Amino acid sequence: MKMKKSAVYLAAILGTASLAPNAFAVDNLADFHAQSMECDSCHLPSGELSNDSLTYENAQCQSCHGTLEEVAKDTDRKNYNAHASHFPGDVSCTACHSGHEKSVDYCDSCHSFKFDMPFSKKWQRHEPTIAELTKDSADRKAALALAPAETVDVLVVGTGGAGFSAAVSAHDNGAKVLMIEKEPVIGGNAKLAAGGMNAAWTDQQKAKNIKDSVESMFKDTMKGGHNINNPKLVKILSSHSKASVDWLTSMGADLNDVGRMGGASANRAHRPTGGAGVGAHVVQVLYDNAVKRNIEIRMNSRGVEILKADNGQVKGVLVKGKYKGYYWVKASAVVMATGGFGKNNERVAKYAPKLKGFTSTNQPGATGDGLDVAINAGAGTTDIKYIQAHPTLSVKGGVMVTEAVRGNGAILVNREGKRFVNEITTRDKAAAAILKQTGKTAFLIFDDSVRKSLSKINKYIKLGVAPTDASPVKLGNSLGINGKALAATIVQYNKLVKAGKDTDFARPNLPRALNEGSYYAIEVTPGVHHTMGGVTIDTKTEVMTNDNQVIPGLFGAGEVTGGIHGANRLGGNAISGIVTFGRLAGENAAKFAKK
Ligand code: FAD
Ligand code: SIN
Repeated sequence: MKMKKSAVYLAAILGTASLAPNAFAVDNLADFHAQSMECDSCHLPSGELSNDSLTYENAQCQSCHGTLEEVAKDTDRKNYNAHASHFPGDVSCTACHSGHEKSVDYCDSCHSFKFDMPFSKKWQRHEPTIAELTKDSADRKAALALAPAETVDVLVVGTGGAGFSAAVSAHDNGAKVLMIEKEPVIGGNAKLAAGGMNAAWTDQQKAKNIKDSVESMFKDTMKGGHNINNPKLVKILSSHSKASVDWLTSMGADLNDVGRMGGASANRAHRPTGGAGVGAHVVQVLYDNAVKRNIEIRMNSRGVEILKADNGQVKGVLVKGKYKGYYWVKASAVVMATGGFGKNNERVAKYAPKLKGFTSTNQPGATGDGLDVAINAGAGTTDIKYIQAHPTLSVKGGVMVTEAVRGNGAILVNREGKRFVNEITTRDKAAAAILKQTGKTAFLIFDDSVRKSLSKINKYIKLGVAPTDASPVKLGNSLGINGKALAATIVQYNKLVKAGKDTDFARPNLPRALNEGSYYAIEVTPGVHHTMGGVTIDTKTEVMTNDNQVIPGLFGAGEVTGGIHGANRLGGNAISGIVTFGRLAGENAAKFAKK
């Protein structure tokens, strides 16, 4: 420990005191630290940055300020606690707090709350595209002329759920594995997943007496995807889903809560007991298991080119480290697990013009550059034009409100106070129905019984996006909804629940009446959510060209691939898919590397 904690200092940095940033005559952390510390309080004596993950520098932050968990105890705000967010892994302080420049509110890359961190500026993406990077030809050539910086059996590009599943599985099949991640934090979109992981005929379902089958999951998935899905991949998705839940459970996951998501004919969305978000939990379990296996995870490290030998076989990846620049990693097999491109509206609009200008539920790294990298290596694509909007992104704060809220009983009403759709229909239909309502928004309405059934809801309440009132009339009127009509809608809905049949909108599940405690309303509108298409893979997760030729040594798993979800993904099927196909990719890549 190189500096004593000072209450004023900590309060200023963490923003817990009522000290305004401009109370200091400096505008970045380095200048602020310089008032009481030397450069080597943060930096190596050589003055060089330690590595692209900034491991040493982050350890120095923690030696003074404590771990993220410890800092979170001091930084609770009325509506949010940025340090107690849904970031799994060993989160680097430098993801937000920058030394010699203004800090950035990384949370702002997804949300739109008023984060008032001292010495900060608005988050913005400054990332050249893969095509722009190819213009750095001198730097790239110089790096490629050198010997590889290191050699591994399997290089996994991307640290979402598919990447971690592949890495753990490749390791357990005997491979030396390295993971690279272009963002300063791990977890990709996977860490944001909320509603659940679909799986059929699991022990968890049996314990709750839920009747389901692999065939039913297969049929629902094909129907939800408008039957253009690759049935061979859907068969793997559904038939391996139980094994994937068991695999995660054997590594410490809790997937005991099972609920309903849109388009499913049974409750098969698995999530932690009490209804916490599934993604942060699953990624944390996978991360812990990767760390236990000594798998190196390198952040701020972007895979920019797949390197191939003259015979076309993959021989590694050219990596661009944010601080260390280009170098190449020799690898016998590469798993592309780089996720989708939902955050790249330019690209989204190219394939789906009606989604131009839409906000997105995705993490900032979901730009699709992994797709470019794979295409440059010869990969073909499948279903690339199919892009999904999630129906319920909160208008305030930009928080995706999980479909599980509807699955557990919430209804959707318009400003006129009326229901207008089967709330748990597939999300393409729900999103289209919301866009037809006044102001292109709708309101999720629920009561305390729904709130108690899903702990994730408490987070929305804490974030201040779910106003509440004991009276539906008052709640409605305060939000510009016709309150009297809303109250009548709730009475009518409760009658339908009692009768056990929704004669108004044919909603298939009616889990509970809305008549307990207070009522809540969240104003929602659709946001770009999932890119169904991606690189073409076969049943062994080998990446294929447009002529259906395998690219030897190149594997793909997760949202970067196409074919599993067809034209429209069902809620809960992505986490299922990334774990199942991630495991397969890891296993097959390890076997390939051994050959
Ligand atoms: P990701 O988890 O996105 O990981 C890809 C990683 O690769 C990212 O970290 C990215 O930064 C990195 N990367 C990209 N390019 C490069 C590169 N060139 N070099 C290095 N790294 C790179 N699905 C469900 O089934 N159930 C749910 O409850 C659910 N909830 C969701 C909630 C939200 C808010 C969102 C956005 C999605 C949700 N989904 C859900 C969808 C699901 O989370 C994603 O489809 C899935 O997690 C994708 O996993 P992945 O591993 O393929 O990609
Ligand atoms: C949600 O929880 O609503 C998102 C689920 C999904 O994308 O599968």
